[in-house]
Amino acid sequence: MSRAVAEPRLDNRTYYDDFAGWYERDRHLPYHRMLDDLEVDLVARYGTNKDVLEVGCGTGLILDRVTQFAGRATGVDLSGGMLAPAAARGLAVAQASATELPIKTASVDVAYSFKVLAHVPDIRGALAEMSRVVRPGGWVLAEFYNTRSLRRLVKWAKPPSAISAQTDDEAVYTRYDSAEDIRGYLPPDLRWVTSRGIRIVTPVAQVHRVPVLGALVRKAETVLADLPGARDLGGFLVVCARKT
Ligand SMILES: C[S@@+](CC[C@H](N)C(=O)[O-])C[C@H]1O[C@@H](n2cnc3c(N)ncnc32)[C@H](O)[C@@H]1O
Repeated sequence: MSRAVAEPRLDNRTYYDDFAGWYERDRHLPYHRMLDDLEVDLVARYGTNKDVLEVGCGTGLILDRVTQFAGRATGVDLSGGMLAPAAARGLAVAQASATELPIKTASVDVAYSFKVLAHVPDIRGALAEMSRVVRPGGWVLAEFYNTRSLRRLVKWAKPPSAISAQTDDEAVYTRYDSAEDIRGYLPPDLRWVTSRGIRIVTPVAQVHRVPVLGALVRKAETVLADLPGARDLGGFLVVCARKT
């Protein structure tokens, strides 16, 4: 069953505009590098030399790497504050909601979204939009926060973390979903083909900073990410769905 965490105190645009200045602060750390690497690697499988769209591209950290191998890469995000660094990187980005993409129907091969859809209340609307813009035979790579994960357990036990001088990570709408929930959100023209589980065994991010242990955990995460059974327990569950 899907679960939203508490009542959101801020709407998404206000929250991310406020977060923008802090967003890249920790991204060079090994834990965040691992998440980004596993996500970019997945996009490379489906999007090399293809037209791709990132939904919720934020400051463009992922999109910047995807432009190196995609045929054409564009991004959309709700927050002007998050988009400013993406535009400064020279990326092709536009300000819009995931539920109303300013993109032509059937115009890209892959639409992907990481760490975004769990914050979108109208998840069916967002997935229908991602499907609309993908060409028949193309792919939607959609990442969810997984109810059945160690990450979910740890988040439960932990106090909120600051995301800026003003607010914390529990101020925004956040939903955790099971695989069954996600299947129920997919529009009829999207078929779940496979998935990747990201952050399966990492108890806390700091583990990745411990010499030797950090490297071992990263290795384990890389091996488990595509392993049937194990991948279902990823804190971040990326569904790879094909447009019919
Ligand atoms: C945690 S950040 C992830 C950014 C990027 N995908 C990454 O992995 O670095 C979440 C992003 O989702 C964007 N976002 C939240 N709700 C959105 C919506 N309804 N439509 C488009 N973008 C949204 C936020 O503005 C923010 O930039």
